[in-house]
Amino acid sequence: MYITVGRHQWHAPRRLLGGGRTRSLALVLSLSVLSVLVFFVLLPSEWQDVVLPLHRQPAPRRMPVAQPLPPLPDRVPCYGPRRRLLSESPDDELRSAHLDIPYPVPFIGSYDELGLERTWMTPEDRYGPYGYGEEDDDYGRERVSWDAVNWARLQNSCFDRNEARFPAAARWFTNEPRFALRGDSRLPLVRTWDEFNATRRTAIVVRTYNGYRYKPEDMHNLRALVTEASLRTGGEYAVVLLVNIRGPESNVTRSREAYDEAFRKADIPPEFRSIAILWDESLLRSWYPKVEEYR
Ligand SMILES: *[C@@H]1O[C@H](CO)[C@@H](O)[C@H](O)[C@H]1NC(C)=O
Ligand SMILES: *[C@@H]1O[C@H](CO)[C@@H](O)[C@H](O)[C@H]1NC(C)=O
Repeated sequence: MYITVGRHQWHAPRRLLGGGRTRSLALVLSLSVLSVLVFFVLLPSEWQDVVLPLHRQPAPRRMPVAQPLPPLPDRVPCYGPRRRLLSESPDDELRSAHLDIPYPVPFIGSYDELGLERTWMTPEDRYGPYGYGEEDDDYGRERVSWDAVNWARLQNSCFDRNEARFPAAARWFTNEPRFALRGDSRLPLVRTWDEFNATRRTAIVVRTYNGYRYKPEDMHNLRALVTEASLRTGGEYAVVLLVNIRGPESNVTRSREAYDEAFRKADIPPEFRSIAILWDESLLRSWYPKVEEYR
């Protein structure tokens, strides 16, 4: 750093100004103080009015911790995309091989502790049941007309076969429009966990959007997810495709016709239409008007 005095230039003593690190530190500190000040001066007035409701309302009822759920009864086998019970359909099964070669040491974890076998799979072994390699002559599995598969029907029939294992609160999945604008909803403003009875079923929500181009790998993965998480567990999980209809002019909640039209235009693969549910920005805007960014 230079200090100019008259016509003379002086090197300022480093001791006085501090080294590079001290100077950066001072700069960062003063900028932070400045931005905190600016933040409080410019804070939108509605933020300043926010009062945490902690001491106004009774405390929320806390979930009890560490309460192990009793195991569910034994799973009843379900039908898969080849219309056979998965327990009796070798073509729906993954394949694997024991090879007489050294197996890689896992970076973390233990095969023994988890009871995993040291087996090998090719991509065909892993995703063959879901269509990988089906265009090859030596596919070696029964082919499926995937467009004719109705994954919601398979998931629901699986739940029916297993219904006795679940509490009464467990339900079918349907892809009827289920979201309403805030003003039209019959739901109370605040709901808490203790208003619901356990269903012992879990939704796996896969998010996508209109116009998304489903690659073959996406199809194999989605089919694997539905089959292995839902159908092979006797309905302990249900896979749902949550489709974001993008664009500021979309309003799928306006009417059933608007919903159906957006559904038709959303390019959802036929086999997944039965598990697809739409939402759009107008819906979130009505529920969360102050968020201002919806994706
Ligand atoms: C929860 O289960 C209890 C007992 O079976 C029943 O009386 C109650 O109506 C259920 N509540 C809900 C929200 O389903
Ligand atoms: C969507 O349609 C509903 C019902 O007609 C209307 O109340 C709402 O304002 C619309 N939202 C937008 C963002 O157009």
